Amino acid sequence: MERFLHRKVLLGVSGSIAAYKAAALVRELVKAGADVQVVMTRAAHDFVTPLTLATLSGKPVLTDLISGDSTWNDHVHLARWADVLLVAPLSANTLSKMVNGQCDNLLLACFLSATCPVYVAPAMDLEMYRDPSTHANLEKLRDRSVRTIGPASGELASGLSGEGRMTEPEDIVHRLHADLVGNSKLNGKRILITAGPTQEAIDPVRYIGNRSSGKMGFALAEEAAARGAHVELVTGPTNIATSMTGVSRTDVVSAADMAEACKTRALNSDIVIMSAAVADFRPASPATGKIKKKEAAMTVELEPTEDILAWMGKNKPAEQILVGFALETNDGEANAQGKLVRKNLDLIVLNTLQDAGAGFGHDTNKVTLLGKNTKPLSFPLMSKADTARAILDHIGTLL
Ligand code: CTP
Repeated sequence: MERFLHRKVLLGVSGSIAAYKAAALVRELVKAGADVQVVMTRAAHDFVTPLTLATLSGKPVLTDLISGDSTWNDHVHLARWADVLLVAPLSANTLSKMVNGQCDNLLLACFLSATCPVYVAPAMDLEMYRDPSTHANLEKLRDRSVRTIGPASGELASGLSGEGRMTEPEDIVHRLHADLVGNSKLNGKRILITAGPTQEAIDPVRYIGNRSSGKMGFALAEEAAARGAHVELVTGPTNIATSMTGVSRTDVVSAADMAEACKTRALNSDIVIMSAAVADFRPASPATGKIKKKEAAMTVELEPTEDILAWMGKNKPAEQILVGFALETNDGEANAQGKLVRKNLDLIVLNTLQDAGAGFGHDTNKVTLLGKNTKPLSFPLMSKADTARAILDHIGTLL
């Protein structure tokens, strides 16, 4: 089974002969969908070239706290960027420096600044690994919640055989996947998620829109990708800037743009979650030039937009799970149930504007999930990230 690790991985490479395996490790991580930034120690340069790792990761490799041209490599930013810090291979020297809080290179500074999970894959010769100081140092790291991967046993570069080999790159990626993604039912699934409002032009400067912020759709996209899904996010205009690993983002403006961006993608998706607040109406004939105050007729004639979700319901591939959203102010459950049936959905997420802190613009939401033959499932007011988790957990049960 292919495992997808949509995470930002800060890969620290230290000076051990196993550093040559860092090239294969970067390949494996990238293949799994990870966004990889390599940080090397000077000693690692003797074993593998920065050019090799830069080419494979698609990013310049960083080594020093201050680069030759006096550029400061911001370790705080790097450490915050990372979802996970992996030091592989971990040499005896870097291990000892990590334990003692030394900070004479960028890798060590990142380690000291990291708040994300940290993994290390030690690699050294048999006797070095057996040395009590090495064992004591590894124990101290584990006490600080650093997770160790390996080392494995086998042939060593010295010609000796025994413990000290760096765990194979593929096995390192499997371990990270098992810990960070787990047994996710969404691993490898293609998911289309829509987010945000649409804007329907009245003239080149004015539009009809709504108060959707896009936060719910983005939270769903981020969580689905973190669970190993390949996410297509089609979003109306929002202020949310993202660099989500595993998410391919398409920006649209109007309901018609959204329909166009979604149709082919929907036909190729295992799951579709239509969380965008698509306008139901648009100006029938938007003006090509800005409408002047004195010309304004004071009425804007409207026509319906295409119901994208209804189109998806009609054209739903077998086995696809189609999820809609409903925002209701009255008779929420009955109205949402009606939409579920009318639009041929598998699940509908109901939110009301009546609950304080729920709905448009907030960081929290309060939803009820309604399925075809199941009792409504109501959740308390939760962060949109937790709401996304609850929705995706439920979708997982439908797969
Ligand atoms: N939707 C859509 N295309 C539209 C309008 C809505 O795909 N042109 C989707 C929304 O993304 C949401 C669901 O349909 O998933 C909402 O259903 P809808 O019947 O449009 O809800 P309301 O707009 O609230 O409809 P009503 O005015 O009937 O309550």
